Amino acid sequence: MKIERQETFMRDAIPARVKLEVVMCFLSSGISYRLLAIFFRISKSSISKFIPEVCDVMYEALDEYLQVRDKREWEDIQVGFHHRWNFPGCCGAIDGKHVAIQAPPNNCGSSYGRNSDGGVFQASSLYPVLENGSLLPEGGFLVGDDAFPLKTSLLKRYPNEPTIAEKIYNCRFTRARRIVENAFGILVSRFRILAKPIQLQEETAIKMIRTTCELHNWLRKSSLHTYTPPGSIDYEDIVNFTTNLGTWRSEINALPNIARSRINNRSKIAAEKLREKYNFFCDEGAVTWQNYMINNK
Ligand SMILES: *[C@@H]1O[C@H](CO)[C@@H](O)[C@H](O)[C@H]1NC(C)=O
Ligand SMILES: *[C@@H]1O[C@H](CO)[C@@H](O)[C@H](O)[C@H]1NC(C)=O
Ligand SMILES: *[C@@H]1O[C@H](CO)[C@@H](O)[C@H](O)[C@H]1NC(C)=O
Repeated sequence: MKIERQETFMRDAIPARVKLEVVMCFLSSGISYRLLAIFFRISKSSISKFIPEVCDVMYEALDEYLQVRDKREWEDIQVGFHHRWNFPGCCGAIDGKHVAIQAPPNNCGSSYGRNSDGGVFQASSLYPVLENGSLLPEGGFLVGDDAFPLKTSLLKRYPNEPTIAEKIYNCRFTRARRIVENAFGILVSRFRILAKPIQLQEETAIKMIRTTCELHNWLRKSSLHTYTPPGSIDYEDIVNFTTNLGTWRSEINALPNIARSRINNRSKIAAEKLREKYNFFCDEGAVTWQNYMINNK
């Protein structure tokens, strides 16, 4: 009886700082509540109670770091892609990843493996606003890999590259898409909870996944060099025309990609026309290093 009372007392007495440490340890390592209980000398029941609560608070507090941009901000990003990656029009790189959720064993509504059909992108809230042109500035588009359908608002690489123009386009495309590869790569390497099936109720797990994304964006803003020190992300050496791969690539297995999307032929033809416009990368849109790059792949 006494021990029980004492436990209740201790549970209430866990300082906020310690709770935050436990949560950060949980998110960054992905270890079980059982091990956390041993490391931190806090009862498992109390850990399993406060982790979702603290995540909730963090999720709310960092909400501004996971927002859809407004038109002005998209325009700034577009300018950035033009200057930094020589890809005019591009407003961002998109990727789709699976994070597995495994509902606790005594829960009959297991959600593991759900949504693994081909329609993840089409079912997303991004799809309709990208499709009807209300998201991006006039003429803006994203770049995405083979999981995505080719559209005027979503360009892909050329599947084959027999011509110089196509090689150069693909080379620029790869550079622009590197952004999102690195973002997801760093995210999973810093928040290892994402690297294996999350053993929580679906609702809690989704909040937790969002919290890691918010933390990632916040840390990139507030602690760029401690969160992503030099060498951790891909680095383009423009003196030697080589790309040095970020260390995350050898530390983790990338998250599995979402399934390939079904393609709508009508929009595909318009998009192929748009992609062909980028043949100007070869002449007036050329940059000095590009032929070197394609010859040294
Ligand atoms: C685009 O789609 C979104 C979501 O369906 C809708 O809210 C918005 O009003 C649409 N905008 C235009 C310009 O059609
Ligand atoms: C380019 O390559 C040379 C020779 O391999 C090397 O010494 C130099 O550090 C490289 N440049 C950069 C910016 O890494
Ligand atoms: C889509 O295009 C493929 C060839 O690229 C063709 O075989 C197919 O019939 C087309 N589908 C529709 C619905 O037009």
